[in-house]
Amino acid sequence: MGTYVWTGDELKQRDGAAVDVEDRGYNFGDGIYEVFRVYGGRLFEEEAHWDRLIRSAAEIRIDLPYTVEELSFGISSLMKADRLTDGIVYLQVSRGAAPRGHAFPPSGVRPTVTAFTKDMARPEAALRDGVSVVTQPDIRWLRCDIKSLNLLPNVLAKQAASEAGAWEAVFHRGDTVTEGSSSNVAIVQDGTLRTHPANNLILHGITRAAALRIAGSVGIAVREEAFTLDELYAADEAMLLGTTVEIMPIVRVDDRAVGQGTPGPVTRQLHAEFVKLINH
Ligand code: PDD
Repeated sequence: MGTYVWTGDELKQRDGAAVDVEDRGYNFGDGIYEVFRVYGGRLFEEEAHWDRLIRSAAEIRIDLPYTVEELSFGISSLMKADRLTDGIVYLQVSRGAAPRGHAFPPSGVRPTVTAFTKDMARPEAALRDGVSVVTQPDIRWLRCDIKSLNLLPNVLAKQAASEAGAWEAVFHRGDTVTEGSSSNVAIVQDGTLRTHPANNLILHGITRAAALRIAGSVGIAVREEAFTLDELYAADEAMLLGTTVEIMPIVRVDDRAVGQGTPGPVTRQLHAEFVKLINH
């Protein structure tokens, strides 16, 4: 845990920093966020995170009170103050604090910006050995492309995974696999990488986009087309894609082995290329 928080105007000691009890992020989950990965003191895929933050804000009609340059400068100073080399930066923007009422507050209420850092090592063992996942019904709303603070279904699904001794919960809407509770999901079928299209039913993951770019550059065929639960169970390989998991092999789904029950060659190749991007 870092020592400081950045509030847009200033860096403060985290100890003693406070948010209004009527902050709309706190009362309604009325806000958006980003999780940036930091490797060797550098923000990974920074531009893509800003693009997504701007889009999420626009989709829920929050006027960001700072430019990307100001936000970027702010979180860089936070990283320096916290001496963060490997970990994450969490940045949240809520619609601000105002007397509680569901409709937007009067204009002039300033969005609340908060950012903090966390040291985090890369999940080496899980990347090497692969992880197990459980499936869970996707009970979320129809705008999962917005990186909103409303994560209750994700929280409940991750808790179910945790109680089952699994790393992640994989959501399905009916028979269709959408994504993980905090990651995207892809499978490999006959050498082709397949993942849900980037529409309103999934978060447009930055790691997902990087994996698709890598696949294109090394000649792995890609199909951005949803797959079913049965196709997940029968896949040659499966993987999680996300800021904190990188490109992580899934070796078991609901206690059934995926492929040979060990990380597959396509997943390994994609991850090896991903590591080159990290070290670039
Ligand atoms: N989660 N899908 C969901 C629902 C997510 O919450 C995330 C990321 C992803 C992967 O997106 P990206 O590759 O841009 O990290 C997909 C972050 C890490 C979190 O909430 O902690």
